[in-house]
Amino acid sequence: MKINNVYYRTIWPDPENEKVVKIIDQRRLPYNLVIEELRTPEQAGRAIKEMQVRGAGLIGATAAFGMYLAALQAPEEDFDDYFAGCGRALLATRPTAVNLAWAVDRQLRAVTGENSPAAKIKKSFEIACAIADSDADACRRIGEYGLQIIRELSEKKKGGTVNILTHCNAGWLAFVDYGSATSPIYAAHREGLDIHVWVDETRPWLQGAQLTTWELQQEGVPHTLISDNTGGLLMQKRKVDMVIVGSDRTTHTGDVANKIGTYLKALAARDNSVPFYVALPSSTLDWKTDNGEDIPIEERSPAEVLTVSGLGEDLKEITVNISPPGVRALNYGFDVTPARLVTALITERGIVQPDRESIARLMNRDL
Ligand code: MRU
Repeated sequence: MKINNVYYRTIWPDPENEKVVKIIDQRRLPYNLVIEELRTPEQAGRAIKEMQVRGAGLIGATAAFGMYLAALQAPEEDFDDYFAGCGRALLATRPTAVNLAWAVDRQLRAVTGENSPAAKIKKSFEIACAIADSDADACRRIGEYGLQIIRELSEKKKGGTVNILTHCNAGWLAFVDYGSATSPIYAAHREGLDIHVWVDETRPWLQGAQLTTWELQQEGVPHTLISDNTGGLLMQKRKVDMVIVGSDRTTHTGDVANKIGTYLKALAARDNSVPFYVALPSSTLDWKTDNGEDIPIEERSPAEVLTVSGLGEDLKEITVNISPPGVRALNYGFDVTPARLVTALITERGIVQPDRESIARLMNRDL
């Protein structure tokens, strides 16, 4: 996607130095566009843990490039053990997004099959680039499938504005390109459909207020920022035609882990007969977990709830406290929306009902 008319991905290997991987530091957005360099697997792990990079797809791609950086550093005599150890360290950074484990596992399986350290490094680079490319391509295709849903709603409204509510940032910043929930939105806007997006601010990290709004601004998509508690009222007032959210992990039975607060939107959507869609690449599917209640939910620092960050009067980035000193806070990063509240999943292979049989059939997996 473009930032000020220049094309970017969220992560890319430095064309001038094969030992460097570049990322956009998302903690500095939307106020400053800062490109950071990753040179070690530890730096890649830190970038994931501290949310310089975030979002399911991008966490997976960063882990994949982190494994490439590990391959570059691995001692010849002890390559496989070192490489596997770096994989374990990356896995420990964030527990909920399943793309992380998927990417590390893909690297481990591909690289250990190679004979020499040079061949292992080459393979690891190829895999990282392939994961990044396939993430971008899957998101582009999610846009094409999701567009059909928006088009139908637009026809039903005889060209009237289609109001779409989204939560958090499942935009291109959360992936390598395009995004999951935002990809159909960009496709609809490019097609000239009249759309408008309600953007949940998404406390405590404000991915909606700071990242989704910024992305939509860059693409010129009409949108309005709302506080996290507003969606239900808008649905009751018939001002929401559909909800599209992303996912950090979706069980093969259709339960959806996504940013905290998603479940409440799904409940409100069901009560108001508003369709609730989840957009995800198949790399976000968890084939081992049958029940969403068993998905590990990341608990982050209470400091994120006790503070808020933004731009001060002197245009400097600042963080301020929002509660009296000594207040206790609890900070779960995600919740799980049961499959029964999900209208359909939008994937790169098509739109599918959120149940075990339909998902397995679409993904060509045995039941
Ligand atoms: O904690 P984050 O920002 O990494 O959480 C990820 C998200 O932005 C959302 O949960 C998103 O809707 C799904 S990731 C594509």
